[in-house]
Amino acid sequence: MPTTDLHHPRYHFLPPSGWMNDPNGLIQHEGVYHLFYQHNPDGPFWSTMHWGHAVSRDLVHWEHRPIALAPTPGGPDATGCFSGCCVIDRGVPTLIYTGVDDPAWNHQVTCLATGDATLTAWNKHPRPVIDGPPPGVDALGFRDPYVWRERGEWRMVIGAGIRGVGGAVLHYASPDLREWAYRGVYYQGDPDITGTVCECPFCLDVSNDAGETARALFFSSIPFGKALYVVGDERGGSYSARGSGAVDWGGCLYAPLGFVDGRGRRIVFGWIWEMRDEAEVRAGAWAGALSLPRVVTLRGDGALGFAPADELESLRRRRVDYDGLRLSDATWQAPDARGAQLEIAVEARVDEAHEFALVVRASPDGEERTRIVYDASSQFLRIDPSRSSRDRARADRHVAPLPLARGEPLRLRVFVDASVIEVFAGDRACLAGRVYPAREDSLCVGVQARGAVEVSRLTVWELADPG
Ligand code: FRU
Repeated sequence: MPTTDLHHPRYHFLPPSGWMNDPNGLIQHEGVYHLFYQHNPDGPFWSTMHWGHAVSRDLVHWEHRPIALAPTPGGPDATGCFSGCCVIDRGVPTLIYTGVDDPAWNHQVTCLATGDATLTAWNKHPRPVIDGPPPGVDALGFRDPYVWRERGEWRMVIGAGIRGVGGAVLHYASPDLREWAYRGVYYQGDPDITGTVCECPFCLDVSNDAGETARALFFSSIPFGKALYVVGDERGGSYSARGSGAVDWGGCLYAPLGFVDGRGRRIVFGWIWEMRDEAEVRAGAWAGALSLPRVVTLRGDGALGFAPADELESLRRRRVDYDGLRLSDATWQAPDARGAQLEIAVEARVDEAHEFALVVRASPDGEERTRIVYDASSQFLRIDPSRSSRDRARADRHVAPLPLARGEPLRLRVFVDASVIEVFAGDRACLAGRVYPAREDSLCVGVQARGAVEVSRLTVWELADPG
């Protein structure tokens, strides 16, 4: 049985112990980044949601702070403080979040708490500021408020589903964060995308070098378990989308949240969930991790781009470069690069190939290995965990579309952190994966080709434990 420690990420944020899911209330205040997150401090399983809290000056080194919100017995959040956001209201840090007070977590209301300048101690407003879905909306779920200030008023989107219709994002406005007026359905897309309930909606206004601007609306969709975005505009108080995509194509990143930092960067973090079975998760000390900070841009083709924040480069230590590798129907293992905490940059020409794979967390004999595979004919990228652990079989159907123009190289940046893998394909597609190698020597890196591949660059950095 592998020990949980073998799987313990080092430079990804984890709860001090217990369980985490969604990031909440992301904000940079007086230079300090604050992360709140859905947290069960009592064990590595989802139950009785609290808001955990951590701070950072660089998005990479995090320091745990005391729990920010805990359920109040007899209060509107008696059985859980669900997801929400943080804004500064005339200098006062304010959390707006979902409270639940019934055993089945169905009675979902919008709550408010105000805090001190360090965002450590919170006072809850005695009553919900919205006590349930608007009249006339037969809502399946009414949760995860996201608030921003625009044209002199507070605006809010809330995740919901409309029974028999599909996932929807509802829209509210307020002069003071306490009195809210319902403005109607903000967005209700094709249920093949939005599913039955949209969770954790949020907006980011994005622009590109050509001066084009758009509003991106993000949501996580039940039952698909996917974090998606649409790009479009708001007109007359409702939102119309002209394009869509996935925040992550990998199948284990969910409920991301975005914010704008002091440098004007649009940054998202997501929750990376476990792919171990429940008994194994419960036997460990922690569950869930936060993704790396991903900087969002509007690309020239109208889609969103996602790139790892520059600050991550501060983790780089020993570097090894291999250039000019040519492979034809072969596998090659890097002689001098190994580790469970690595960043890898690879550039490969795949025009003559059927398939190219970057291999990570491989045992020297190849019994265990995780492949990040580009299928050149279908032009899909995926993480293949089928041989990641000798003690469990796993298939994964999640793929990212990645069309390359003729002659355009495949460019990947891959972050390996014990059981977490994050793949950035240029800024075009991200895939997060979880793998649980059983062997302690599954630390090798390599490349593999079916057909002919020229690897013009392969750089491997060992990464520091920011601990
Ligand atoms: C998304 C979610 C949210 C909810 C929270 C509860 O993962 O289901 O909709 O507020 O988790 O922990």
